[in-house]
Amino acid sequence: MSRIAYVNGRYIPHHQASVHIEDRGYQFADGVYEVMAVMDGEPIDEDLHLNRLERSLSELRIESAMARASLRVVLREIIRRNRIRDGILYLQMTRGVARRDHAFPTPRQTALVITARPATLPPPDALRAGIHVITLPDLRWKRCDIKAIALLPNVLAKQQAREAGAYEAWFVDASGHVTEGSAANAWIVTREGILVTRPVSSKILGGITRLGVLKAAAEEGIPVEERPFHLDEAKTAAEAFLTSTTAFLLPVLKIDDKVIGGGKPGKVTERLFQLYLAEIKTNKKRKRIPHEEKAALSTGNPV
Ligand code: PDD
Repeated sequence: MSRIAYVNGRYIPHHQASVHIEDRGYQFADGVYEVMAVMDGEPIDEDLHLNRLERSLSELRIESAMARASLRVVLREIIRRNRIRDGILYLQMTRGVARRDHAFPTPRQTALVITARPATLPPPDALRAGIHVITLPDLRWKRCDIKAIALLPNVLAKQQAREAGAYEAWFVDASGHVTEGSAANAWIVTREGILVTRPVSSKILGGITRLGVLKAAAEEGIPVEERPFHLDEAKTAAEAFLTSTTAFLLPVLKIDDKVIGGGKPGKVTERLFQLYLAEIKTNKKRKRIPHEEKAALSTGNPV
């Protein structure tokens, strides 16, 4: 079956899908994106992702390409046309196509691309068994809270991790504190059993998975401290893990050359993973698409 992409109002075979060479995403990385998990054919935490998308757009003064209700319909249509049961949705909005000039073009014409692909969710056992991370200086800009498509430091960091045989790179700020991973939030569990993750600020992306894990921890009565943690503290922690939409919650068994928790996934990490999974399954059930949108969907028309 051929993959289908949504590009500026049209559903197109994936291998033919393209954007103009003067799309500002291509020339300036002038755009934002979201990545959503799909389980049993339903997007997970869709509203939270769309909230974050709207915030990213507004921080960069990009107009949304379409209203939220329409976007929800197109997302489902892409899931349907690609026959995704479990997988990943990718959505990108850029400031559109215009003659190259750094300042915003007029009139504004936001470009929208949506793709989907099947994926094993939650991630396969090989990853669930635990991963290694390396650490690198955080070379990114000062607005990491915006989910911008400008990801060069993240790309370089992830590649360096891969070349080192690690799954992820954790960024460390000038004071030696961990900010987050190249594509995931970073967590530790102290020897006293306290769950620690950096508070949201312009230094990290406010992860949607992060929110789900914090909620699960609160419900379970696990003590949480949202505060920056030093790399030295991470290396002597009882447990460490990372969270993202695609990784869910993965145990970190080694940070640089330091083995964490005896090289085995910790109990708190495992418990939080189970709770998070249960959480998104109930969430998913609550977030069924309203009836009228479903009717629009059945026409197969983009809105
Ligand atoms: N990345 N921090 C960064 C820098 C990220 O890129 C991501 C997600 C996260 C976790 O956010 P969330 O839980 O909402 O996925 C944190 C996505 C998955 C990506 O770029 O592919």
